[in-house]
Amino acid sequence: MASGSGSNVEALHEAIVQGRLDASLCLLIVNNPECGARERSARLQIPCQLIDHRRHQTRESLDHALVSAFQAADVEAVVMAGWMRIVTPVLIDAFPGRLINLHPSLLPAFKGLNAVGQALASGVRITGCSVHHVQEDVDSGTVIAQAAVPVNDSDDVQSLTERIQKQEHRLLPWATALAGLQWRHNGSAEVQG
Ligand code: GAR
Repeated sequence: MASGSGSNVEALHEAIVQGRLDASLCLLIVNNPECGARERSARLQIPCQLIDHRRHQTRESLDHALVSAFQAADVEAVVMAGWMRIVTPVLIDAFPGRLINLHPSLLPAFKGLNAVGQALASGVRITGCSVHHVQEDVDSGTVIAQAAVPVNDSDDVQSLTERIQKQEHRLLPWATALAGLQWRHNGSAEVQG
């Protein structure tokens, strides 16, 4: 699932091509017709479906449409790779322990929107990115993996975002592989540790 430029979708794709992630991208869902992720999917030949959130009156209605699309594509697990909508139990309960999210901070710090700006405003010297299991409270499920990024005195939101994204491109495929090993090995929901 992506709403943005799709650089993290491409990182997943590359990891699969290079044999670092045993998976296939059966379906990319975007919620914005203009987003870069949609263009990338065409170039990378990833099946892509637009489910425009503006056509849905409620978050639940949007999530029902997502679940139907994922079930029709017979997906095993779902990665939120820059999905900028709040998800509901409709989606979370359809993929118990198999829905993971990427967030540009070291959770539990700086949840929600503009995490990079929040980190800069707070004056922390280290921030980073997290991949975590999704639960109903935003950005609060069990952390799967994190990468740290130092904050430089000269950083602004753009420069710090760029360095965090470099780490995201390493972290997301690795964390996805790790989560996949856990659920395939245990045959069940979320695994701790
Ligand atoms: C990523 O930096 C990701 O951490 C962030 O959106 C960006 C998507 O970039 N996600 C969130 O802020 C979720 N709360 P991309 O479209 O280039 O992969």
